[in-house]
Amino acid sequence: MKRFENREWRDSMRLRVDYNNMMQEFVGMRGIGAAMLAEQRPQYEAAALRMEEKRGEMKWRQLPFSQSEVVHQILETAAWVRRNCDAFVVLGIGGSALGPIAVQQALSHLRYNDLPAAKRSGPKLYVEDNIDPERMASLMDVIDPARTVFNVITKSGSTSETMSQLLWATDFLKNAVGDAWREHVIATTDAEKGNLIKIAKENDLRTFFVPDGVGGRFSELCPVGLLAAAVCGIDIEELLAGAAYMDALCSEQDALKNPAYILAALEVLAMKQGCNISVLMPYVDSLRFMSDWYAQLWAESLGKRYACSGREIYAGQTPVKALGVTDQHSQVQLYTEGPFDKVITFLGVDRYRVEVPIPHAYDHIPDVAFLSGHTFNELIKAEQAATEYAVCKSGHMSKTITLPEVNAFTIGELICLFELQTAFAGELLGLNAFDQPGVEEGKKATYALLGKPGFAAKKAELDARPARDMRYQV
Ligand code: PA5
Repeated sequence: MKRFENREWRDSMRLRVDYNNMMQEFVGMRGIGAAMLAEQRPQYEAAALRMEEKRGEMKWRQLPFSQSEVVHQILETAAWVRRNCDAFVVLGIGGSALGPIAVQQALSHLRYNDLPAAKRSGPKLYVEDNIDPERMASLMDVIDPARTVFNVITKSGSTSETMSQLLWATDFLKNAVGDAWREHVIATTDAEKGNLIKIAKENDLRTFFVPDGVGGRFSELCPVGLLAAAVCGIDIEELLAGAAYMDALCSEQDALKNPAYILAALEVLAMKQGCNISVLMPYVDSLRFMSDWYAQLWAESLGKRYACSGREIYAGQTPVKALGVTDQHSQVQLYTEGPFDKVITFLGVDRYRVEVPIPHAYDHIPDVAFLSGHTFNELIKAEQAATEYAVCKSGHMSKTITLPEVNAFTIGELICLFELQTAFAGELLGLNAFDQPGVEEGKKATYALLGKPGFAAKKAELDARPARDMRYQV
């Protein structure tokens, strides 16, 4: 029996959301009034109802419940990779990369790739989410192609960055292992659409599918993220169980009792008060890449020019990534004394996975000796509490999400919580949180500039841009 099958254990792993420091009673007049929340209740109820009606359409919401067969296949493939490889390289970008990075960083040893193989829970993991030529070239210096599997991930099967990486990896492999290159590539893509599926079929590649209706940034809990996680020895069944647990908590129709909905409602109210920046500040090093994943989810989903009604709204909140305590010495001055344009979400844990004492020494220097006898655990928690206090005292809004500890279950909960928060915020703002027309525009312009067939009109549009004016260059 797995631990997540035990109800008591699951409940002991429940995430907590504390939004006292969003409220006027705590933060002053620039906070949210209890009356404001109550007034909006009819809107929240209507949005909660729409979320329920759209549950079937939001295919990503089914992922924690619908993948037992897929999970079995992933575990088999992961076991094969773990037996045969020293390195597993994910080729992908945006939603095809940020989730795999965030989950692996959260749940693997913090210095995973630096560990000797015998101490690592799987092969080294590289997630190549950029196409800087220097980075591509440098990868060749640290992997042995004969002992590497590349997982090329693209939902659309056509993203230039990922497809060019595939061409590069194929060439690299062919030069090293000849026809056996096919054994070294796993494709994760749409079952029907795009070019990657054609290439995968032509070459008989191992393939996993991004289910229909699951967009990039909502795809971490499908093979996009699960395969890399399983390869690294992460318990993907526990991850999915955590997401399912949170989905149940977030099925509460009273928005003010629903963790995802209340988080979304507070952000939307704050946006209306001019808070157009959303800071995510984990006080847990292993969660620092969760901020990258969240940044994409929040920015790409809510950054929209048009409402569903067609009205121009220019909505969205700029996500900012911060890390406690590091950014106390970089950003917190701005958070306490700067403009009232941001909401800070602190992420903390009840228990770190290790305890590290601060040794005794220098008793004759009281300003140093006071640290002795404490632990780094106490120090970081005190600093988190102190920063929460300072931000609140300065009249700036913040809230705190606490994980009992970082494990696959709580990370599943966190992913589900943020996804549902985002979807609910989209409902409240009346926009489509699941498309990304602004990103698509950039993709099309890239195709045009590189001469992709079918993009001649876009190329003509780009060529018709005004010439650069030398007065504005130095
Ligand atoms: O969230 C999204 O849909 C995007 O960020 C995509 O993940 C990103 O553009 C990569 O697209 P694809 O997976 O089709 O290569």
